[in-house]
Amino acid sequence: MFGKKRPVEKIDKEQLELIETSQRRIKQKKRLYYHFVIFLIGALFLIFLNTVIGLGEQTKIWGLDWFVFAILAWLFLFVFHLFNVFITHKFMGKAWEDAQLTKLVAKQKERISKLQAEVDKKYPLETNAPTTPVIEKKTKVHKNLTLIAAAAENDTIGKDNQLIWHLSDDLKRFKNLTSNHCIIMGRKTFESFGKPLPNRTHIVITRQQNYQVPTGVIVVHNMEDALDAAKNDLQPFIIGGGEIYQQAMPYADKIELTRVHERFDGDAFFPKIDPSVWTETENISHQKDEHHKYSFSFITYQRR
Ligand SMILES: NC(=O)c1ccc[n+]([C@@H]2O[C@H](COP(=O)([O-])OP(=O)(O)OC[C@H]3O[C@@H](n4cnc5c(N)ncnc54)[C@H](OP(=O)(O)O)[C@@H]3O)[C@@H](O)[C@H]2O)c1
Repeated sequence: MFGKKRPVEKIDKEQLELIETSQRRIKQKKRLYYHFVIFLIGALFLIFLNTVIGLGEQTKIWGLDWFVFAILAWLFLFVFHLFNVFITHKFMGKAWEDAQLTKLVAKQKERISKLQAEVDKKYPLETNAPTTPVIEKKTKVHKNLTLIAAAAENDTIGKDNQLIWHLSDDLKRFKNLTSNHCIIMGRKTFESFGKPLPNRTHIVITRQQNYQVPTGVIVVHNMEDALDAAKNDLQPFIIGGGEIYQQAMPYADKIELTRVHERFDGDAFFPKIDPSVWTETENISHQKDEHHKYSFSFITYQRR
């Protein structure tokens, strides 16, 4: 009774539909078969009533016994039933409905494009916009893609391409979390290091086509390519700075934020964390001490 729950096998929607359809077909055919048997017995019974018991012996229609007409009427009903099961349902099943729907949609689309062409001709738009429609890019959230940052109460993360504070526990945490992983960063953040950090794969985003980097550092020219370059890492990190956090936020599913409990002037900022998108799952506070000039909290956010 308290043993392990057995895993329930999942059936996809299409399979379920197929099973339901075949069950319905079996039921329909069974009913048709019962109808046939009842029809045979019924016909014999009508003949028996007329010829053996003598019910309505004198009743003739166009010179024929009444039971002949009764059996013919029933036969007609049976043939109708047969037609329904084997013809109507077969041709008017799901596939038939889908085909009809596709035809209908195609016709509607044709009508709409004709109407659109007429409207465009009558009321041309005065614009220089390209004629091809803009295809909205749908951002794909990457599982385990984490933004890691330290931000002040007013979201400042840096000034003059440098960090503003030195918090040794925060640096240790950064090192522990990011070691042996891909770290994606903007060109300015990369330059703020002086040299690459040990034991991490650096992916640097820049618009400069001939940007020179030490061996082992990967250079890309947009966010999508950066994420692609990190695709074999199960836990890549976005490590800044402000421009890159802003662009990467829609792709991330986790934020490891060190919130420094002070306000600072700066020129780079962490984007606002929308509480309708992100939920706080962990919060560990750290007081000021001889190694830490400011109090801070390690806060983990997960995408809702
Ligand atoms: N507190 C923290 O946790 C933390 C972490 C990291 C950094 N920081 C601080 O943040 C500051 C740097 O941030 P930032 O916003 O100024 O710069 P950044 O994000 O590090 O880098 C910006 C650069 O990235 C490139 N770039 C940005 N978007 C691009 C795109 N879509 N396609 C191609 N290239 C793109 C451009 O390089 P090109 O100009 O070469 O084209 C751009 O100038 C520094 O003060 C740093 O110390 C703080």
